[in-house]
Amino acid sequence: MLKEALIIIINICGLLFNKEVAKRSIVYSYRHGFSGFAARLTEAEAESIAEFPEVVQVIPNRIYKLQTTRSWDFIGIHHQSRKNALTKNTGKGTIIGVIDSESESFNDEGMPPIPSRWRGICQEGEEFNSTNCNRKIIGARWFVKGFTEEIVRPINMTAYGEFLSPRDGNGHGTHTASTAGGYFVKQASYRGLAAGLARGGAPLAHLAIYKACWGIGGCTNADLLKAFDKAIHDGVDILSLSVGNAVPLFSYVDHRDAIAIGSFHATAKGITVISSAGNDGPTSQTVSNTAPWLITVAATTIDRAFPTAITLANNDTFWGQSLDTGRHNHVFASITYSERISAADSVDASAKDCEFGSLNATLAAGKIVVCFSSIDDQQDIASASNAVKEAGGVGVIFAQFHNDGLQSCDIPCVKVDYEVGTQILSYIRRARSPTAKLSPPTTVIGKWMSPRVATFSSRGPSSLTPAVLKPDVAAPGVDILAAFPPSETKPREGYYTFLSGTSMACPHVAGITALIKSVHPDWSPAAIRSALVTTATQTGTDGASILAGGPNRKTADPFDMGGGHVKPSRAMDPGLIYNITSDDYIQYLCSLGYRISSIVRLIDTQITCSPHKRHVVLNLNLPSITIPNLKTTTTVTVTRTVTNVGDSDSVYSAVVRAPPGVEMRVEPQVLSFGNTTTRVLSFKVAFSSGQRVHGDYRFGSLTWTDGKHRVRSPVAVRVIRYEAYADV
Ligand SMILES: *[C@@H]1O[C@H](CO)[C@@H](O)[C@H](O)[C@H]1NC(C)=O
Ligand SMILES: *[C@@H]1O[C@H](CO)[C@@H](O)[C@H](O)[C@H]1NC(C)=O
Ligand SMILES: *[C@@H]1O[C@H](CO)[C@@H](O)[C@H](O)[C@H]1NC(C)=O
Ligand SMILES: *[C@@H]1O[C@H](CO)[C@@H](O)[C@H](O)[C@H]1NC(C)=O
Ligand SMILES: *[C@@H]1O[C@H](CO)[C@@H](O)[C@H](O)[C@H]1NC(C)=O
Repeated sequence: MLKEALIIIINICGLLFNKEVAKRSIVYSYRHGFSGFAARLTEAEAESIAEFPEVVQVIPNRIYKLQTTRSWDFIGIHHQSRKNALTKNTGKGTIIGVIDSESESFNDEGMPPIPSRWRGICQEGEEFNSTNCNRKIIGARWFVKGFTEEIVRPINMTAYGEFLSPRDGNGHGTHTASTAGGYFVKQASYRGLAAGLARGGAPLAHLAIYKACWGIGGCTNADLLKAFDKAIHDGVDILSLSVGNAVPLFSYVDHRDAIAIGSFHATAKGITVISSAGNDGPTSQTVSNTAPWLITVAATTIDRAFPTAITLANNDTFWGQSLDTGRHNHVFASITYSERISAADSVDASAKDCEFGSLNATLAAGKIVVCFSSIDDQQDIASASNAVKEAGGVGVIFAQFHNDGLQSCDIPCVKVDYEVGTQILSYIRRARSPTAKLSPPTTVIGKWMSPRVATFSSRGPSSLTPAVLKPDVAAPGVDILAAFPPSETKPREGYYTFLSGTSMACPHVAGITALIKSVHPDWSPAAIRSALVTTATQTGTDGASILAGGPNRKTADPFDMGGGHVKPSRAMDPGLIYNITSDDYIQYLCSLGYRISSIVRLIDTQITCSPHKRHVVLNLNLPSITIPNLKTTTTVTVTRTVTNVGDSDSVYSAVVRAPPGVEMRVEPQVLSFGNTTTRVLSFKVAFSSGQRVHGDYRFGSLTWTDGKHRVRSPVAVRVIRYEAYADV
């Protein structure tokens, strides 16, 4: 018999094909947001089912990962960007669903009662019962069947620190949920670092936890879809998903994946879905979660740093950063570098510096060791410090190309750049008996140019539909301090800890969305996205352009940060918004070749695919304009429609900053909104280029302003001369 695999079938209401097949193998059925089931089927069975006209999609079960960072055990932060510590607006009454790995219980003191429209439950399980839910965490469910299907042998979850319940095993979910909607906690800190008032973006929002991700391996399509299905049923307003796949090219082909499908149906029901861009930067075309109905969030640094002094015996002091405080002795010790103390049998030229087992314990004992990491070797400070500790070393200085995010180690560890690393190295070579001291870090706020797009944050353009700008916006995601569950290995150290990743940026935007929703409950997900994108900022705390991290820093462009860095106070009052209906998204799917008749029935609308597919994507009413293939000597015209959500009787005029080498004309150049009747107006933007060479993307903007609001859309255009090959 052929090997069976878990296959997900999205079908139209209620229909079942071969009842026998279904009965024998059904794992989940989906009812609320959409209709379908996940079943164990052979490939032949799946293929024959796909033939039915009622079947919309057949997708295999697949594993996703949580997007904390490249490294799984990054120990990390929560910062509430001081910028969004705004107003008395607290997201009161909003329900944020977090599909993740959660949940440690949260205090509900001061929380308003549970909204009567709430239809969720508090599902019990290992170390989790109904007393774990309260007015803060109003619902919790867990989904493991799809994951279990993918594991070859049954595994003992408990042995891996996981619980068969909503209880958080790895901390990711607690961290993201507390970032989005944690209540005020006075004097939160990580061992005294970053001390201060901790709060989620929307402290009076309720949280509902959908645990579909498992610390020991990730999340699957089948479980994620079930989580969406239940969240839609339960009545969440917002969904935060810090989940994605590392290889966008594999799983994001034409949006046939659980996140794209689940979020499409959630969006159609008015739920705003926020997702992380991924941690595969700074390489371009790595952004994940690229469906146009998602709000996709890039990660930035904040204005806080943890400077750590390295003092040499000659009194020279160098600076690095670390999180190691309150648990190590900080005294002078001999200092050396890895090459001097490598084990004789470890002469593998390809070995990483300070690889586990590569150091000679006799030589390393009692020493601080300098390790160099190259761009290629993907070594991180935690594994290097483990190697040094195993060899008896007492500290690590880790020199690395620029990469954001700090980790704590079991021995003092300090991250430095190559310049500092090289200077320390030359000191060691010169000195007769080199010694050094690693001091504990301090917290310094407001003295750092920020934000900067994190090196690890995935970059656009989207490899699937480059005309849909991704990411949409950027938000804090480096060294974020937030709640963390205590564990046996990390007792008490939990509760608050630092993490880095686009996973941490995503719940910031979920929190801000709760604030927007509590002021504008009737805004569509597209309106909210538009408000976030068009009011975002492109300048940092020093007034200069926001930079993007990477081997070489550069000015951040829309493929690094979409519209820019979120600016919550302005997003509450954007002036104009670019709205999008479900029908528009359906036309977009049509243009990708979807069998639309079934989708239309799925969401109860009566539309047909427009025969004019060519400009559907370009004309999707996004708050951005991306033209991936403007041919020399031709003109491409796109249409956009804005809705006035500000004062009536406003007059907006267009401010155009054309991408270099591109001509950009807006018609009309003035939009007058009458006092009551005219709320919606359209305009056209024509792009042409006399450029005679094949180009790369160039960036500009279109801003509508009435003197009070600035409604800015990022613009990206690539001029092409040959169809053959495009170099991004
Ligand atoms: C729920 O769990 C708590 C703590 O784990 C325990 O004290 C309590 O008795 C449990 N309640 C029920 C109804 O099982
Ligand atoms: C380093 O500084 C200390 C304290 O300031 C001083 O006592 C010591 O002599 C200095 N050592 C050198 C080598 O300059
Ligand atoms: C470690 O270094 C000591 C001292 O130089 C040497 O005697 C020993 O053979 C080395 N061991 C290994 C495994 O290289
Ligand atoms: C946007 O479109 C949706 C769906 O058509 C509609 O409900 C909403 O009122 C529109 N405007 C805003 C500001 O959301
Ligand atoms: C609305 O506009 C009309 C025509 O421009 C003007 O006569 C009228 O006074 C305005 N009404 C208000 C309430 O501003």
